[in-house]
Amino acid sequence: MSNDTHRDDANPNQSASQDEPLIEGHSYDGIEEYDNPMPGWWVWLFWICVAFAPVYVLGMHVFDIIPTYEEKLASDQAELAEIRTAWEAQNPTFEVSNDAIAAFVGVEEAIAAGQQLYSANCAVCHGASGEGLIGPNLTDAYWIHGNENVDIYTVITEGVLDKGMTPWGSILAPQERSELVAYIRSIEGTNPEGAKEPQGTLYEESPAEDNEEET
Ligand code: HEC
Repeated sequence: MSNDTHRDDANPNQSASQDEPLIEGHSYDGIEEYDNPMPGWWVWLFWICVAFAPVYVLGMHVFDIIPTYEEKLASDQAELAEIRTAWEAQNPTFEVSNDAIAAFVGVEEAIAAGQQLYSANCAVCHGASGEGLIGPNLTDAYWIHGNENVDIYTVITEGVLDKGMTPWGSILAPQERSELVAYIRSIEGTNPEGAKEPQGTLYEESPAEDNEEET
């Protein structure tokens, strides 16, 4: 094959390159190179890059208009810290204690919210009114796991897996679990119909009664 045929295959835009001088000495395996100009878009891109470079260097290092990587990182992290602080201010971490939960006990809205959660999640096992079914009666003065607010909260949170009580710690928020305690406190001593026989230890005094006296 002649050189001309090679050129036809490699460059259909043959007439443009025909005038171009061959770069002497650039020949590999018989393929020779022509000194064609770079495509227009490429040349434009090149000059735009060249023009942008001094803008960037001056802007970043001389006039300090463009932030460096470190500056941008620091400002973004400051922004993130602000968002975190704002979030934490709106969502205070809940320290589980008798007092913290007592703040829910006797509060109407907490009891109402707790009742809804109870109907949706707990009634299947503890009965619609807490009278007990698979799970123990929650209205009597007998408790298997203690009758302090924290005791009830802890059973709800951790469950009693080998006895069939679901752990709710990862399903319900601390506030929701506290509302459930508030609801359970509110039905204490209601002696609903079909009440299940007592299970656990008899507690003569309920912390809820102290609380009710206060309010
Ligand atoms: C799948 C059935 C089931 C569900 C659902 C369930 N429980 Fe229980 N629960 C039990 C069983 C069974 C026990 C008894 C555990 C034991 O014997 O130690 C129990 C125990 C308890 C106790 C301790 C009672 C005591 O005497 O100390 C509380 C409080 C309680 N559940 C609250 C709840 C709340 C609140 C919910 C809903 C968020 C709930 N349970 C959902 C089965 C259930």
